[in-house]
Amino acid sequence: MPDRTPRDASFDAAWRVARTVDGWLTEAQARDLHRAASAVAPGRVVEIGSHLGRSTIVLASTGAAVTAIDPFPDDWRYGRPDTEQRFRDHLAAAGVEGNVDVRVATSRDVRTAWDDGVRLVYVDGKHDMWSCLDDLRWSAFLQPGDTVLVHDAFSSLGVTLALLRDQTATRRHRYVGRTGSLARFEVATPSVGDRLRVVGELPWFARNLLVKVLLRLRLRPAAALLGHRDTADPY
Ligand SMILES: C[S@@+](CC[C@H](N)C(=O)[O-])C[C@H]1O[C@@H](n2cnc3c(N)ncnc32)[C@H](O)[C@@H]1O
Repeated sequence: MPDRTPRDASFDAAWRVARTVDGWLTEAQARDLHRAASAVAPGRVVEIGSHLGRSTIVLASTGAAVTAIDPFPDDWRYGRPDTEQRFRDHLAAAGVEGNVDVRVATSRDVRTAWDDGVRLVYVDGKHDMWSCLDDLRWSAFLQPGDTVLVHDAFSSLGVTLALLRDQTATRRHRYVGRTGSLARFEVATPSVGDRLRVVGELPWFARNLLVKVLLRLRLRPAAALLGHRDTADPY
């Protein structure tokens, strides 16, 4: 196995670069990604949804082998024709391109042809319910005790619905907790209590939806009353 360990695999070194790349990962969430990827490095991490590489850089800086999946469509709110090139430039600038296997394809297309082991799955792709449910199927390549991280778990209607459906329809993901709306699941049989803890996050989800509405209405002071002082949506 090639030695992928970067000269400085610390979180601080990774975040110094990643924070300069536009994206929706907070520092605390980036720490979670870094911790989870460090625990499995140099094993395989699958990232679904890379955009400009903010999270990819954090994951790959640990020395993990990252498969970064993104079709880079330019027909969504933040998509541009040069997104893929900017993503590749960011990886190169961070010095992690050697650790990243870039797949310009949908998560489903890569998954249906996949025949390798995976140690960590990070879901941050298309945010409608069906796509997210499909992305969660990547966990079939994980072993019991491995981790699935889901971004926007309680700040996006489609992702939240997918998680509720997954919790009622499968017995594969045990909810561990969240950092903002980055949720951590362990591949393990959830107890009833574990499932109820996901339902228990719904007030937090409702608060985030309300904040989004207030921001759309340009009512930032009202959003601030709910503890949201950013101009960006909560995530
Ligand atoms: C919220 S962004 C990802 C942000 C990124 N993780 C970061 O840290 O900045 C969602 C990404 O999912 C990608 N995407 C859309 N459909 C997808 C699919 N079917 N499979 C994988 N990624 C997809 C989009 O192109 C977009 O770049």
